[in-house]
Amino acid sequence: MLIISEEEIRQSGRGGLLAVLWRQWCTERALARRGIHFRATEIDQVAAGYAAMSQEEFDAVNGRQDWANWRTIPRALNDHVPDEPLRVLDLGCGSGNSTRVLAHYCPRDSRITGYECAEPLLTFARRREYRHRTGARAQVDFVCQGVTQKLCGPAGNPISGGCVNLINASGVVGHHLNPETFSALLAEIARVLAPSGVAMLDVGPTLPGPVLQSLMAAAHFTFLGHYRSWFGDPTGEMVFRRHGR
Ligand SMILES: C[S@@+](CC[C@H](N)C(=O)[O-])C[C@H]1O[C@@H](n2cnc3c(N)ncnc32)[C@H](O)[C@@H]1O
Repeated sequence: MLIISEEEIRQSGRGGLLAVLWRQWCTERALARRGIHFRATEIDQVAAGYAAMSQEEFDAVNGRQDWANWRTIPRALNDHVPDEPLRVLDLGCGSGNSTRVLAHYCPRDSRITGYECAEPLLTFARRREYRHRTGARAQVDFVCQGVTQKLCGPAGNPISGGCVNLINASGVVGHHLNPETFSALLAEIARVLAPSGVAMLDVGPTLPGPVLQSLMAAAHFTFLGHYRSWFGDPTGEMVFRRHGR
């Protein structure tokens, strides 16, 4: 199993949370003054809101999420996936911040595909460098599509059933989906995940933890834990394992 120590998580985690929160608050106010609103569950409004931002603005409003990802994602991964190359999907990858954390911590030679509905954010994501913690370049590509549609590969054909080892969502399920829209994503998660594959899904105001847990239990996923960036984090990611077929 992949083991990531708390010491390594502390060393790799970004600091300066107060500055991050202040920058996020100022940028969100400036965007609101320009009529840009992105805290929504309606996909066209979400995509339009995020697409209207510059890279600096997106990274500012996503600052707390990025700060949390460097803690939550490795804790969610730790001891839950095999230490061998994995096929990984990063749902709602934005400008690639969560993808960078996955590239850093997933086993070397894993292949990661990021999904995003706001095309301009993928332009920013494609410019970034993605490296494993050994320094090796990671294999990363991106697809512009909604995560509640059939999940396709970069060439445009649907991902084959049962071939994905790990699905991650950071700041998406609990912030932009609701139980109704999540049901379409859940059907895709169940279709593409390999037996014993793992889904790490964020919880938040639009899809709280207890609701996600009951939806996943009804779809025969086993709950493995709820991982947070710090003990008072009201969001975080819940980890589920798909039953063998
Ligand atoms: C809070 S940001 C998080 C970005 C990234 N995961 C991270 O942690 O840095 C949420 C992202 O999810 C995307 N998103 C929201 N709903 C989506 C949907 N239904 N399909 C695809 N992307 C979506 C948004 O456009 C936005 O880029």
